[in-house]
Amino acid sequence: MSDTEGSLTPTPAGVYDAALGGTANTAADRAVVERAKEAMPDVILAAWANRGFLQRAVRRMAHELGIRQFLDLGSGMPTQRNTHEVVAEARPDGRVVYVDVNQAVVARSREILAGASDTTAIQGDIRQPEAILAHEETRRLIDFTQPVGVLAVAVTHFLPDEDDPWGLIAHFMDAVPAGSYLALSAVTSDYQEETWRKTLQQAGPSYDAYPRTRAEVERFFKGLEIQPPYEGADPAVVHIGLWGAEDPEVADDDSSRLAYAALARKR
Ligand SMILES: C[S@@+](CC[C@H](N)C(=O)[O-])C[C@H]1O[C@@H](n2cnc3c(N)ncnc32)[C@H](O)[C@@H]1O
Repeated sequence: MSDTEGSLTPTPAGVYDAALGGTANTAADRAVVERAKEAMPDVILAAWANRGFLQRAVRRMAHELGIRQFLDLGSGMPTQRNTHEVVAEARPDGRVVYVDVNQAVVARSREILAGASDTTAIQGDIRQPEAILAHEETRRLIDFTQPVGVLAVAVTHFLPDEDDPWGLIAHFMDAVPAGSYLALSAVTSDYQEETWRKTLQQAGPSYDAYPRTRAEVERFFKGLEIQPPYEGADPAVVHIGLWGAEDPEVADDDSSRLAYAALARKR
């Protein structure tokens, strides 16, 4: 199966894959992207700014910080140079556990990952951290006595405040040893509030998202050591495009300002 063209319900993973120009999306997903472009002309650039943050953060962890095992929460489709591909470039001994709440996404991920060694995709809900941490595939691939790269990239904004996404991310970070890292991005309406309002209204109830303020995104990193986002910068939560940027002035455009990101180390 290469596509679920029959599916009428768009999913966050499919919509995002469609925005990235990937191969694991349906006509319904692509229609959402087309509609979103009307309200948010930067949607494609923003999707790539976010995937670019993921790629640069994974690269930094795997290449420079010695991390060889990754727990990727809300992983979406493993296409378009997602985590396992970036890890493999740096570390042939790398291990990746992809976790997504959507069973169809997990099934498709497993097809795409067939043959990728030491990489797996499991169904799991961030709201049930213990089930993810105790999952036999997680235990098979991740050694919890060694540092882990925990990724929560473009996923916490699918959880309302009532689910306490901050407490949930802290739960995962409590399970990993000192020297582990958290890479997290989350959409914000600090800059384009009206754009977000229109986009979410247009997407309808199947695509609820909760853009957050800078202070709310900073809360995810409480108790962790935020890393400088690029050479010469102070440690901080920054717009996604700025993270790892070679030229921060060029990188901080409108699409970059649709989300915040940071990488932080557990002491
Ligand atoms: C926009 S995609 C992000 C993909 C990838 N992390 C990236 O940023 O490049 C968000 C993914 O989070 C998943 N997701 C949403 N809520 C979740 C939850 N409660 N637990 C696990 N995954 C969730 C969606 O199914 C979707 O695949």
